[in-house]
Amino acid sequence: MPLSLVTTCALGLEEILADELRNLAAEALEVGRGAVTWKGGWPEVWRANFRLRTANRVLVELGSWAAPDGDALHAGAFRLVAEETGRPWAGVTAGELFHPDRTFALRATARSSRLTDPRWVALRVKDGLVDGQRRRWDRRGNVERRRPDLALRVWLAGDRASLLLDTSGDSLDRRGYRVAGGMAPVRETLGAAVVLASRWEGRGPIVDPMCGTGTLLAEAGWIALGQAPGRLRSHWAFEDLPGFDAAAFERIRGEAVPAPGGGEGVRLYGVDADPQAVAATRTNLTRAGLASCCELSRDDAFRYDPPEGPGLLVVNPAYGERMVEEPDQWHRLGDLLKQRYRGWRAVVLAGDKGKGKWIGLRPRRRIPVKNGPLDARILIFDLY
Ligand SMILES: C[S@@+](CC[C@H](N)C(=O)[O-])C[C@H]1O[C@@H](n2cnc3c(N)ncnc32)[C@H](O)[C@@H]1O
Repeated sequence: MPLSLVTTCALGLEEILADELRNLAAEALEVGRGAVTWKGGWPEVWRANFRLRTANRVLVELGSWAAPDGDALHAGAFRLVAEETGRPWAGVTAGELFHPDRTFALRATARSSRLTDPRWVALRVKDGLVDGQRRRWDRRGNVERRRPDLALRVWLAGDRASLLLDTSGDSLDRRGYRVAGGMAPVRETLGAAVVLASRWEGRGPIVDPMCGTGTLLAEAGWIALGQAPGRLRSHWAFEDLPGFDAAAFERIRGEAVPAPGGGEGVRLYGVDADPQAVAATRTNLTRAGLASCCELSRDDAFRYDPPEGPGLLVVNPAYGERMVEEPDQWHRLGDLLKQRYRGWRAVVLAGDKGKGKWIGLRPRRRIPVKNGPLDARILIFDLY
């Protein structure tokens, strides 16, 4: 019996994440809001954690039950632990998973439910779980918030509760290359989405003329070279779960990752007006193992002479800062694209609707996304 899996992502990235999952041959995909559900076994869970670029987390649904009130919430959780359901989770039984020697943490969210206080929801489910442990083993497991053996989540939607097990641990955007920070860096998952949304064929140079801390370049470089996003991570929560097979995961780590243009001759060019940003990009790209294929310079994006193309331009202008809040600055960016990047593909991570229009070019594709709390758009231009 395959696992029911939920992969979460930032709002707007669902279709890009679904494409990534299709490329991993995930089965029974369903695209939701901020999540894609699918089915697979434990090796697929390990591979998804290692290979997905736009996902925040991979969760296993352990159970789902009607929970119109607190007693029903408690009873459903109790049953999951106290009774073997006869449906182990791809070979892992309730007896192994919920053994009281394992520490746990539990968080809840409630949506469209009469039970509106997530902390109370979490408490009722936790009581159900530990009462189930007492029934089965005469003792209960301990709560550990920092690095629990079992990181559990309860999602209450209407009258239905689901208990999910987090297999990722730290969110998957924590790639491990961002050692130097800077002004408004984008999350690595959104940076990857910008590159993947361009459907770039992998030929020609990649330029970010306002590179900040280098996130877009690092993600583009890893995609172009077929480097997995998990390559620098040292830990995932699934490594602490029963049934984890370290040798099988080593084989997954060794699998070839497709590179769009075959991964040959990848060149990354980063430019920023701020010398500290250039230094941060250098540090981060070095940590990402990309130092030998990048050229960085301190320059004004509007004066910078790009390398011979065509290639891919990626840019996340400093919106939120005064200078690109002005329509003029967006016009200037549009002019820059038309004049210096003719024949290139360009992806702009821009602010709300109006600002995209100010560029004065018709995007081939426009994808509304959330950049943290801000509304943003991924705009894709073919500059032919
Ligand atoms: C929003 S940040 C980019 C963040 C970057 N995507 C990251 O993830 O770290 C915008 C960057 O544009 C740079 N910038 C603004 N105007 C510029 C210009 N005219 N030429 C070059 N860089 C510029 C700023 O110094 C800043 O580092």
